[in-house]
Amino acid sequence: MARKHTQFICENCGRVHAQWMGKCPDCGEWNSLVEQVVQGAAEDKHRPAIEGVPIGREDSDEILIPISKVQPDSTRRYVTGIGEFDRVLGGGIVPGSAILIGGDPGIGKSTLLLQVGHALATAGRKTIYISSEESLGQVRLRAARLGGDRSSMLAAAQSNLDIICNLLHNQRPEVVVVDSVQMVYRPDMTAAPGSVTQLRDAAARLIWLAKRLNFALLLVGHVTKEGAIAGPMILEHLVDCVAYFEGDRFHTHRLVRAVKNRFGSTDELGIFEMTDAGLLPVEDPSKLFLQNQKDSRPGSVILAACEGSRTLLVEVQALCAQSVFGAAKRKATGVDAGRVAMILAVLEKHAQCVLGDQDVFVNVVGGVRVHEPAADLAIALAVLGTLTGRALPTGVVVCGELGLGAELRPVHHQRQRLSEAARVGFRGFILPKSSSPAAKAPAGIDLFSCESLEHAIRHLG
Ligand code: TYD
Ligand code: MG
Repeated sequence: MARKHTQFICENCGRVHAQWMGKCPDCGEWNSLVEQVVQGAAEDKHRPAIEGVPIGREDSDEILIPISKVQPDSTRRYVTGIGEFDRVLGGGIVPGSAILIGGDPGIGKSTLLLQVGHALATAGRKTIYISSEESLGQVRLRAARLGGDRSSMLAAAQSNLDIICNLLHNQRPEVVVVDSVQMVYRPDMTAAPGSVTQLRDAAARLIWLAKRLNFALLLVGHVTKEGAIAGPMILEHLVDCVAYFEGDRFHTHRLVRAVKNRFGSTDELGIFEMTDAGLLPVEDPSKLFLQNQKDSRPGSVILAACEGSRTLLVEVQALCAQSVFGAAKRKATGVDAGRVAMILAVLEKHAQCVLGDQDVFVNVVGGVRVHEPAADLAIALAVLGTLTGRALPTGVVVCGELGLGAELRPVHHQRQRLSEAARVGFRGFILPKSSSPAAKAPAGIDLFSCESLEHAIRHLG
């Protein structure tokens, strides 16, 4: 018999618990459990899953098919023509897939998706833009700025999930944008819009419909102040691709990175510039990030970084300052703080640096985040440079991973890094000595292969 019961759902990870606890035992978040009254089917929850399965029925075997006989899904993609966005998704939008775009408020999510919707509608795809936050008048104003106000894209201001699903069912679109999924709600649920239960249900139903009717679904997701999409694990598990806007609103350029992609590689980076006419793809990011870099100076090192399939030249800066209160501060922006702590320890141990009484700040210029360990050598040389007042010669690029014994380890994609440095006009490249046959230097670039940090330090003037 159906019966009411109470359960507690974690706002962070979406796991359900029978009783209230101060800390979610699954994700470790404090104060994240909220009470929920569930109607009916409570006693079914703990029934063994085997019950109700037609054991011994021959037709149940029909669901098994040799993998070689399965018809592969089409690899067709909807190319938006916005090169940087197509790159992030691995070459365009796969029909029937669900894509989540996350980012801070005001960073440009609505702008990007309006541009994408406009581009696809112009290319003849039936596109519906569902605005659950803003009125259609506001959407139209933005579209006018982007030059998409004469587009054939259809729009609706709606946040009721039932009405949205009916609409999509009747209209049979090819592309649907929902801006934002957090504001979509199911009216027959008691939970408030934006709560984990509503979010999970809304996203799951929209995704199910996208697979059934084979339309591409683009969802906008808000980010909490900690930087994760609200109800993060739930949404990330449900969708096929997740792309986040990185960096902050204070730069004119915007970085969009794929953190999950079932149809392409992750870590792909799209670079845009926010202009009066919306987001424009940046053709030459290395030039953008190095535009104020003329002569080399202590504490500044140019790194050849690989992000996804693209190579970028970025400036890594470090500053050491006498610490005032005894406890030295360490701040890292754009690189992993744990990695910086390790590099500082290697510098203290193997390069005789005294950093215990120094505040150390490390920053990657332009809001780029570099995840790979190939940034180690650039960070080490920048810190050492600022500490000793020595700089690398002008026009020299660096990359290399640092071991705990101060040895330098080879990095992947050496050839791409070298050719990017040559293209931008650099003349020297400090890189780890590789056990494989040495990478051939492009014309005009001198290679300085180093076995250890000690060798690399000799290049500081
Ligand atoms: P928006 O796409 O509304 O952000 P989100 O949906 O992520 O909250 O972007 C808002 C910001 O972008 C706002 O500060 C104005 C700016 N903007 C431009 O600079 N140029 C433009 O053409 C548009 C449409 C917005
Ligand atoms: Mg918005």
